[in-house]
Amino acid sequence: MSKITVVYHSGYGHTAAVAKAVARGAASERGTEVQLISVTDIDKHWDTLDQADALIFGTPTYMGGVSAPFKTFMDASAKVWFVQGWKDKLAAGFTHSGSQNGDKFNTVTQLFTFAMQHGMIWTGLGLMPGNNTSKGSTNDLNRLGGFGGALTQSNNDQGAEAIPASDLKTAEALGARVARLALRMAREREPVAA
Ligand SMILES: Cc1cc2nc3c(=O)[nH]c(=O)nc-3n(C[C@H](O)[C@H](O)[C@H](O)COP(=O)(O)O)c2cc1C
Repeated sequence: MSKITVVYHSGYGHTAAVAKAVARGAASERGTEVQLISVTDIDKHWDTLDQADALIFGTPTYMGGVSAPFKTFMDASAKVWFVQGWKDKLAAGFTHSGSQNGDKFNTVTQLFTFAMQHGMIWTGLGLMPGNNTSKGSTNDLNRLGGFGGALTQSNNDQGAEAIPASDLKTAEALGARVARLALRMAREREPVAA
């Protein structure tokens, strides 16, 4: 049994849809309990984060980095940082943006650095890049070709319904990967029968 919490911000619903896909992927691994928490509700949920085996962070890319509400959550977590309360939990991240590139790498780097400051163990995407050969297409998993986390994109003038299915499947794959690793770590914690 393991517990995974997806903590995200979304201004206009796109990252929220991706967060749901990450949670779906995590929940697909039997024995995994998943909570989805918006940073706007974080003050009711610090205990949930403390009890989780893994935290998956998600934010839109705004001005080449994490959104301001997500950064507010990061700064508020300093009280946890002081006691290294999340040390040795698994961490992972995802970000959504309007441009294909949009400087999402910088956002993932911010999420990674945040997790490192908390003493967490970063889980990358673990998928080969798609859509980068003559046989590939935008339907491929990891169509944007990132490694540090799940990168997703949709046009600025369209809603969350325009997020490609391949991006949502990529997000599901990240959630499932974190869930499998969390279950493996949970098994190792279980006492060995005499
Ligand atoms: C303040 C602001 C800054 C943005 N900066 C970027 C950016 O740096 N790169 C990019 O590709 N898109 C940028 N966008 C577009 C958003 O990433 C895009 O609209 C995304 O779908 C928003 O996700 P959300 O609906 O979860 O808030 C920006 C949007 C806003 C509102």
